[in-house]
Amino acid sequence: MKKSTSASILLLTLISSITLNGVVSEGPKEVESWFETISRDKLPEKMTKLHFYFHDLSKGKNVTAVVVAQSNVTSFGVLASADDPMTVGPELMSKRVGYLKGLYMTASFEEVDLLMAMTFVFTDEIYNGSSLSVMGHNPHQHLYREVPVVGGSGRFRLARGVATLHNYFHNLTMGKFIVEVDIVVFHY
Ligand SMILES: *[C@@H]1O[C@H](CO)[C@@H](O)[C@H](O)[C@H]1NC(C)=O
Ligand SMILES: *[C@@H]1O[C@H](CO)[C@@H](O)[C@H](O)[C@H]1NC(C)=O
Ligand SMILES: *[C@@H]1O[C@H](CO)[C@@H](O)[C@H](O)[C@H]1NC(C)=O
Ligand SMILES: *[C@@H]1O[C@H](CO)[C@@H](O)[C@H](O)[C@H]1NC(C)=O
Repeated sequence: MKKSTSASILLLTLISSITLNGVVSEGPKEVESWFETISRDKLPEKMTKLHFYFHDLSKGKNVTAVVVAQSNVTSFGVLASADDPMTVGPELMSKRVGYLKGLYMTASFEEVDLLMAMTFVFTDEIYNGSSLSVMGHNPHQHLYREVPVVGGSGRFRLARGVATLHNYFHNLTMGKFIVEVDIVVFHY
């Protein structure tokens, strides 16, 4: 009985280490040994570039972002929660590559700008299950916004870099933003 239990645990460990590379979630032992491999073998950093779009829809039928709290001061301190689909092309129906999940908060008395505390969660191909987190200032009416990538998971463990955002389409009345994203990250 005991033997078969440990055999199945071993099998599970084998399966998870075969399919790893950030595709499936790993336990603390696998994560620790990954860190040991990186530091012992002094593995070089890789640079990865990603390009996609996300769709932020706050009005209409299929809403992807909702206001969850707000102050009594117009347009300041509005907190919104989002689960925005990410696609290869600017059309919502183009290939889905993940979801941008997290919080936006309006954080300026001067102009409407945002604090962005969000995670790009990838669901496609080799990046399925991996993620990149951004945290920073997003003055969303500017042509380009540079938001720091502060970390990642899966294939993007220890990532750091920059996400450049650009409004491909926006109409506040329609509550519709299509944002083009270019990411450059260093990771292992
Ligand atoms: C909303 O989502 C449904 C189901 O995915 C889809 O059939 C419909 O076309 C969408 N509506 C709009 C306005 O995008
Ligand atoms: C907002 O709320 C604060 C605290 O309750 C109050 O003092 C202030 O008058 C309110 N401002 C407006 C514009 O309602
Ligand atoms: C991504 O992984 C999940 C499980 O981890 C799986 O259910 C899903 O089919 C995968 N998606 C793709 C596009 O491979
Ligand atoms: C935004 O959408 C509204 C409603 O569809 C439209 O009336 C308006 O002209 C649009 N604004 C811009 C700047 O395109």
